[in-house]
Amino acid sequence: MSKTLIVYYSFSNTTKNLAEDIAIITGGDIRELVPERAYSFSYNGATKEVRNEIERGCCPKLLSGNEPISNYENIFIGTPNWFKSFAPPILSFLRNVDLNGKTIIPFCTHGGGGFGQIEINISKECPNSKLLPGFAVTSDFDDKQVQDWIDKIGI
Ligand SMILES: Cc1cc2nc3c(=O)[nH]c(=O)nc-3n(C[C@H](O)[C@H](O)[C@H](O)COP(=O)(O)O)c2cc1C
Repeated sequence: MSKTLIVYYSFSNTTKNLAEDIAIITGGDIRELVPERAYSFSYNGATKEVRNEIERGCCPKLLSGNEPISNYENIFIGTPNWFKSFAPPILSFLRNVDLNGKTIIPFCTHGGGGFGQIEINISKECPNSKLLPGFAVTSDFDDKQVQDWIDKIGI
């Protein structure tokens, strides 16, 4: 089994595309976090609801993604930037698996806000993990940028 796992949540597939690139480049296994209740931004107030969830530190139940990670050393964790932080399914993952001693590499896609608080908020959840420099891009990233970052961090 590969020692690298790429875990991600994606609402509209941009982060998913990036996660798939990372999996191809590193040869790692890929795992999507699927919340039991899918998010919807199609009605008024939905984004406000999500913002509240994030501010309250809500951990939605996951249909899949929380399986043990004991076989992996390097865990890439990817999310869209939602209101300057990670999407709630990421918090569910961080709180449900044992990240002690793991190497964590954050990545995100965003609409202009970069990582925001994402890296800081991930590091708060896993004080006994080693964090490597992450990668934040808008949807127009290309494979070479991803490759250059992976080369730089040496995974
Ligand atoms: C609810 C919501 C909140 C967002 N908040 C931000 C934000 O604060 N800053 C930002 O740069 N982009 C924000 N975005 C844009 C997304 O981060 C961006 O479109 C991202 O690439 C989407 O990734 P996905 O396709 O994997 O879901 C937000 C998008 C949504 C749906």
